[in-house]
Amino acid sequence: MPGIDYSQKIPNNVDLKSDRRLQRALESWQPDYIDWWKSVGPTDFNEKDIYLRTAVSVDRDGWAHYDYITMPEYRWGIFLTPQEADRKIGFGDELGKDAWEQVPGEHRNSLRRLIVTQADTEPASVEQQRLLGHTAPSLYDLRNLFQVNVEEGRHLWAMVYVLQAHFGRDGREEADELLERRSGNSDHPRILGTFNEPCEDWLSFFCFTMFTDRDGKFQLLALAESAFTPLARSCRFMLTEEAHHLFVGQTGVGRVIQRTCQVMNEFPDADVTEHGAIPLELIQRYINFWVSSSNDLYGGEVSSNAANFFRSGLKGRAWEQKREEHTALDDHYNMDVFENGTFTNTDVPLRNAMNEVLRDDYIADNQKGIVYWNKITAKHNIDFQFSLPSRRFNRRVGMYAGHPFDLDGDLISQSDWDAKAAGEWLPTIADREYVQSLMKPSLEAGKYAGWIAPPAKGINGKEIDFEYVKL
Ligand SMILES: [Fe+2]
Ligand SMILES: [Fe+2]
Repeated sequence: MPGIDYSQKIPNNVDLKSDRRLQRALESWQPDYIDWWKSVGPTDFNEKDIYLRTAVSVDRDGWAHYDYITMPEYRWGIFLTPQEADRKIGFGDELGKDAWEQVPGEHRNSLRRLIVTQADTEPASVEQQRLLGHTAPSLYDLRNLFQVNVEEGRHLWAMVYVLQAHFGRDGREEADELLERRSGNSDHPRILGTFNEPCEDWLSFFCFTMFTDRDGKFQLLALAESAFTPLARSCRFMLTEEAHHLFVGQTGVGRVIQRTCQVMNEFPDADVTEHGAIPLELIQRYINFWVSSSNDLYGGEVSSNAANFFRSGLKGRAWEQKREEHTALDDHYNMDVFENGTFTNTDVPLRNAMNEVLRDDYIADNQKGIVYWNKITAKHNIDFQFSLPSRRFNRRVGMYAGHPFDLDGDLISQSDWDAKAAGEWLPTIADREYVQSLMKPSLEAGKYAGWIAPPAKGINGKEIDFEYVKL
C-alpha cells in the first residue's frame, strides 16, 4: 500500500504520477477549485493560522497530523483506503462476482448520477457555512468550523477524482459543474433541498453537522459497499473524516443545552432569554426543522431507482457485511403506504424499500444523539425531554410530502398544521432573530460566548483555552 505522496502538486495515494492524462486533468481543475474556495468558501480567514488536522496516511490509527496552517495551504488530495485483494461484490444480483475496477458500460449513467449527487453536497455545505466564522462563539468552535470546511472540500476532491478517472469527458464536465452550482441560488442551485437551506447561525450549524452530515455518513456507508471499488474506497476514507463533523454537531447542540440548563438552575424564575441562553423549546424546533429536511435526503419510501441501484451492486445497505442475506430478493419491508390520503399496510419488496432501510439506520443513529442530550437535561434536574419528529413530519420528498402530519406522525387537518407548524413546531421568525441576536464573536483564547458551555476537552489533547486560531 503506497503511503500518501505529499511531494506532488496534488497529494495522493493513488500513484497519480503514473497516469499523466488524469494528472493533467486534475491539475487543470485545481486552480478552479482554489478560485471557488476563495470566492464562496469561508470569508476573510484565509490568511490566518489555524490548528488543523491533515490526513497523512490512510491507516486506521494515526492517520491525521495536527499543525498550524492557513486554509489555502491545506493539502486537498486524493486518499483511498487500501486496496483489498480479490474484492468481491457484496450484494445484489452480482453477489460474489469480482468487484469492478472500471465502470461497466451499462451502469455508467446511474453511477455517475449517484457520484455527482454525493459530490454536490460537499461544496454546498462549505457555501452554506461561509459566513459563520464572523460570529464564532470561541476559537475552539471557529477551528472546528474550518476543519469541517476543509474536509468537505477534500470530499469534493475525492468524488472529482472518481469522476475524472473513470467517466472521461462526462466526468470532467461534471467536475466543472460541481464548482458552478451554488447553494441557495435560484437559477443554479445545489442538487438536494437541504443543501440550499440557509445556515446562518451556529445553532443551525450544529444541527446541520449533527443531522445533515449524518445523512452523509449513511450515504457514504451505502456507497462504500459499492461493487465499483474506486468509489467504495474513496467513500471509506471520507467516513474516517466525517466522524469529527458529527462530533462537532452532537457536542455543539449538547453544549448549548448545557448552558441553558445552567441558566435555568441559576435563575429558576426567569426567562432564559433574559440571560442570553437559548430556550430548550427553541432548540427542539431547530431539531425538528433539520431532522425533517435531512429525512428527505434519502428519497422516496418506495423506489424503483433504489431497487435498481441495489440489484446492480451500485449502492448497498449500511454495514452490508453484518447482514446475513445479501440479495434482498425474497424479503419484504412492511410499511403503511400513504396514498390518496389513506394508509394501506403493504409488504413492499425489500429492494424497493432500500431508501427506507437506510433512513431507518439514520433515524436510529439520530436517536442516540437525542438520548445524549436528554442526559444533559436530566443531569441538571431539568424536566425536559428532546425527541425526534416522526419521519412523516414536514416532508417535501416521498409519499408524505406536502401532507400535514404532526410530530407524532398523525395526519391532522391543514388548518391545524398551519396553526401549529409555524408557531410551535418549526423555528419562528422570532426564534431566528433571537438566535441571530446572540451571534456575537467571542474570539479570545479560552473565552466562550454566553449561550454555549465550553467543551469538556480540547482538540488533539490541547486545552480548551488553546489558541486554535491565530487572529
Ligand atoms: Fe463530506
Ligand atoms: Fe461532513
